Amino acid sequence: MRLTVIGAGYVGLTSALAFAAVGHDVVCIERDPIRLARLRRREDPLAEQDVGDLLRGTSVRFVETHPDLDRADMVLVAVGTPMLKDGQADLTQVDEAARHIAYGARRGTVVAIRSTVPVGTCDRLQTGPLRHQLVVANPEFLREGRALADTFAPTRIVAGGPPEARAIIEALYAPLRKRGRRASDFVPLIWTTSRSAELAKYAANGFLATKLSFVNEIANLADVVGADAEAVLQAMALDPRIGPGYLRPGLGWGGSCFPKDTRALAALAARGGYDFIVLRAAIEQNNRQLAQFARLIEHETPADATIGLLGLAFKAGTADMRESPALALARRLARTGRRVNAHDPAIQSTPDPAIARVDPDALTACTEADAVVVATEWPEFAALDLCALRHVTRGDLLVDGRAIIDPARAVAAGFRYRGVGGLSAD
Ligand code: UGA
Repeated sequence: MRLTVIGAGYVGLTSALAFAAVGHDVVCIERDPIRLARLRRREDPLAEQDVGDLLRGTSVRFVETHPDLDRADMVLVAVGTPMLKDGQADLTQVDEAARHIAYGARRGTVVAIRSTVPVGTCDRLQTGPLRHQLVVANPEFLREGRALADTFAPTRIVAGGPPEARAIIEALYAPLRKRGRRASDFVPLIWTTSRSAELAKYAANGFLATKLSFVNEIANLADVVGADAEAVLQAMALDPRIGPGYLRPGLGWGGSCFPKDTRALAALAARGGYDFIVLRAAIEQNNRQLAQFARLIEHETPADATIGLLGLAFKAGTADMRESPALALARRLARTGRRVNAHDPAIQSTPDPAIARVDPDALTACTEADAVVVATEWPEFAALDLCALRHVTRGDLLVDGRAIIDPARAVAAGFRYRGVGGLSAD
C-alpha cells in the first residue's frame, strides 16, 4: 500500500518507520526544516530507542510538501494538537493538513487521523473539507521512551469511520497484528464510530492519570494515618483487576499527553454540559501534589538555598521536558529565590531561566546544595552512592519525589529523608 504520513513527531515518524518495515511504501511529510534535514541525514530527532537504526535501514522518503498526494492509497495525519490556554486542543495543524489533502488526494482515499483530536473532529472533517475522502479516527497509544516498540507491538488498534474504510484499515495493520505462534493470537482491532475512537484515546489517558492521582492520594493518606504506602500499593497491585502498572506514587504526572488530554477531556465534558467530577478532581490533585512538594522544600530550606535537582525530563527514558513536573517544581523554587542546579542523564542544557546550571553528573549538581530533590525516576538515581552524595552537599535534606530511594539507605548516609506523601525518615 502507498502511504503518506503527515508529521514526523513521535506518532508520525514511528508509524512511518513501522509501516515501511512491514512492506508498505511510505512517504513522510515534515514541515520543520531542521527536523527534515536531520531525517534526510538518517539522524533520529526523537532520541528514541532503535529509531536511528530503523531510519538508516528504511526506504521512507522524507519531504517538505507532497506534490503527488494523489498517488497515496491512504494518508495518515500525525501532526501536533497542542493545548490552548482554555484547555482545548489547538487544531490549526490538523485543519491545515486537511486542506492539503482535500486539494491533492484522490476521491475515496482513506485519511486516518492519528493525532489526538477532540470528539467530533473527524465528523467535522468528513462533512467539511474531506467530504470526498473517507475520514477514520485512528488514535495511537504509544509511550515516549518506548515509541517504536509500542508501535510494533500495539496492545490494541482502535479505528472508527465510514464502513467502506474498514477493509483498508485492516489491510494496513494486518502485518502488525500477528503476535504469537497460535493462529488466533492477534492484536485486537476495535472498529467503531469516529467519535468512539476519538473518545477512547482521551478515556485511556484520563483513566491512567486518574489512577495516578488516586495512587498519590493513597500515598499521602498512608503517611497521615501511619501506614506504609509501599506495602499498601503492593497489596493493591496484586489484585488482577487493579494490576501493577501506573501505581508508582510521585510528585505528579506530566508530559506532552496526560496534562493536555485530561484538560481537553474536561473541556469537552464541560462544553457538553457534563460535569466530569472525577477527572476534575484528578487534575486538581495533580496540581496539589506538586505544590505540596514545593511547600515542603520551601519550609525546610532557607530562602536563598541551593537545590540539587536530580531529573529534568517528565519521566525516565526520555529527554522530553514538556509539562515536566521536575521543571514545574524548579520554576516554583526559583521564583522564591532559591538557586536550582540540575542533572539529568538525557539532558545537557536547557534555556529555562529557572535552572541555574545543568551539570554532567549528580554529584556536581548537588555540590554545596542545601537540599537534594529527586524529580525524575531515572534508575541511576536509585543506584546513587548516597554517602558520596552526602559528602558533597551542604545540607542534609533529601526529598525523594519519585519514591525510588531506599529511606534506610538515605538515613544511613546521613540524610533526612522526605518522600512521597511527606513520608519521613531521620
Ligand atoms: C501517555 C500514555 O501512557 C500513552 O499510552 C499515550 O499514547 C501517550 O500518553 C499519548 O497520549 O501520546 P507518555 O506521555 O509517554 O504516554 O507517558 P507515561 O509513560 O504514560 O507517563 C506519564 C506520566 O505519569 C509521567 O510524568 C510519569 O512519570 C508518570 N507516572 C507514570 C507516574 O508518576 N507513576 C507511574 O506509575 C507511571
